[in-house]
Amino acid sequence: MKSYFLAVPFLLASLTGGPAQAFDAEAGKQLVDDNCYACHGDDVYTRPNRMVTSRPGLTKQVQRCELSLGLTWFDEDVDNAAGYLNQQFYHFGK
Ligand code: HEC
Repeated sequence: MKSYFLAVPFLLASLTGGPAQAFDAEAGKQLVDDNCYACHGDDVYTRPNRMVTSRPGLTKQVQRCELSLGLTWFDEDVDNAAGYLNQQFYHFGK
């Protein structure tokens, strides 16, 4: 009987987690606006020889820059920021 109740939080977590590609572009923009213009502007995201060449690579680079800033973003923050940058500048497919 008890194990039935233990399953409920997992069910809720999977419902609120949503689909894997979901991200919050507004939150991502806010994070980037607030934290990411100390060393470079938007121009690095659109320059001809840009470093990032894939969607997973974008997440990695966001994480690298975020860590070098000494921030401690949650995975969700990294996903939101990378999702926003992809939507706005990189336009990689999934
Ligand atoms: C401590 C300085 C610093 C800060 C702050 C910083 N970055 Fe960076 N970022 C770099 C450097 C250095 C590069 C490499 C640029 C180059 O090669 O000229 C880079 C490159 C990038 C690239 C790849 C650009 C390309 O060529 O495709 C992305 C994406 C990026 N940063 C995202 C972010 C995000 C998101 C933040 C905010 C969390 C951030 N950066 C904050 C230093 C920084």
